[in-house]
Amino acid sequence: MTRPSKVPVGILISGRGSNMAALAAAAAAPDFPAEIRCVIANREDAQGLDFARRSGIRAEAIDNRAFPSRATFEEELDARLRSHGAEIVCLAGFMRVLSAAFVARWPDRLLNIHPSLLPAFPGLDTHARALAEGCKVHGCTVHFVVPEVDAGPIIAQASVNVLDTDDECALAARVLAQEHRIYPAALADLASGRLRIEGKRVLRTEGRKDG
Ligand code: GRF
Repeated sequence: MTRPSKVPVGILISGRGSNMAALAAAAAAPDFPAEIRCVIANREDAQGLDFARRSGIRAEAIDNRAFPSRATFEEELDARLRSHGAEIVCLAGFMRVLSAAFVARWPDRLLNIHPSLLPAFPGLDTHARALAEGCKVHGCTVHFVVPEVDAGPIIAQASVNVLDTDDECALAARVLAQEHRIYPAALADLASGRLRIEGKRVLRTEGRKDG
């Protein structure tokens, strides 16, 4: 039996890139249903670019500040992703809000990882806000991207208990470990055709489209 082909993926980053590295590590497994075609950062000094290059992944910067408008930056981003054959795009610490026009170009093919249990704490500083609110449980979410920030259909979540001893740093580290676990699993589910979106719900089916 022939092995089903891997779905090509582009990853967008702005910084450290630890989620990108987790996706790349998972994708290195022969039976993972997706392959990382390119990593694109919106700044040349994104640390994750070095890691990607050292790992043999095509890694490029498109500096958003070099473009006269968000629309022209996004056109270039979209063109570059398509030129590398990407069919799914994973945001992994990408710190630019993408316009509705860009999102519409990747229907049900654009994922994000967010460091909170959405719909709690969309936006920034999620760990500090969870601590300030006295949450006993916190976590992370992989979701489809829609034009509203951190609001798309939820694919996967993982929770961690908030400990009395936690500060922002300790809590962030435990959440990040969960991010690295659920993001590759969510990508595998999408690439395998196992996800069905019904309204705001993402249902997981067992079928493979291409197997
Ligand atoms: C992660 O916490 C992710 O949830 C958020 O930005 C951070 C990126 O970290 N969107 P890294 O660059 O993947 O290490």
